[in-house]
Amino acid sequence: ASYETIRVERKGRSALITLDHPKALNALNLQVMDEVVTAAEALDRDQGTGCIVLTGSDRAFAAGADIKEMRPQGYMDMYLSDWFSAWDRFAQVRTPTIAAVAGHALGGGCELAMMCDILLAADTAVFGQPEIRLGVIPGIGGSQRLTRAIGKAKAMDLCLTGRTMDADEAERAGLVSRIIPAADLLTEAVTVAETVAAMSAPVAMMAKEAVNRAFETTLTEGIRFERRLFHAVFATADQKEGMTAFTEKRPPVFTHR
Ligand code: HXC
Repeated sequence: ASYETIRVERKGRSALITLDHPKALNALNLQVMDEVVTAAEALDRDQGTGCIVLTGSDRAFAAGADIKEMRPQGYMDMYLSDWFSAWDRFAQVRTPTIAAVAGHALGGGCELAMMCDILLAADTAVFGQPEIRLGVIPGIGGSQRLTRAIGKAKAMDLCLTGRTMDADEAERAGLVSRIIPAADLLTEAVTVAETVAAMSAPVAMMAKEAVNRAFETTLTEGIRFERRLFHAVFATADQKEGMTAFTEKRPPVFTHR
């Protein structure tokens, strides 16, 4: 497929989607949404993909939903088209995803980063949900995912004042898992992706599914869900390989089955 607002590259079993719409700091208009979702779903269907990295530019991961596109819309336009509902499909991708964030990750940009499974931040990263300054609220899950990630105190602070937080604050708050010097962000993100992609693909998918379940259900139900998946991994060839390799003191070679 050919895209106008993103670039897609394969790197072995991992793949890189780069938001490439620099004139508006990667503002997430409907075309960007369509292209990112189409590309991510195609990679997800391809069993050769073990991990997907999503990144932007040095200046901006994405500075939010496209304000100029949204400005003239009315309630019925938004409601009837279910504006931005396609982003839900990005969050449904089963392959593990990594957001590699440098610069602005604001509004929809922060929300998109939070849809990814691992969030890596360059030391230049800036996160926020500044929608309130525009007279709106987050619309791609920000009020829910930010609150689950960093708790009510900081989520309220960010959503009500529109202030941003830097990479250090985001890491302290638990929004990002690692801070990486900006110059090394992409290399490091691809290394993490290759690490994940080398694992058993079905087992990685199950691990992702199990962790995500923690946000959807009670502890008892979540543990039951985990237990079912845990039993299921013993039906994989990769479980035999992983445990055999350990006993033979050699690295495992997973067949992703
Ligand atoms: C459309 C945007 C944009 C956006 C930046 N641009 N963000 N266009 N939508 N979200 C455009 C600018 O208009 C400008 O284009 C160009 O990108 C460069 O931006 P500047 O403002 O000149 O850059 P700078 O001074 O460095 O400031 C960077 C910035 C600022 C702090 C990130 O651009 C900014 O505050 N952007 C808006 C951030 C925001 O409010 N995001 C939330 C959006 S609402 P021109 O053509 O003028 O040069 C949202 C809702 C999600 O995401 C849910 C909805 C359902």
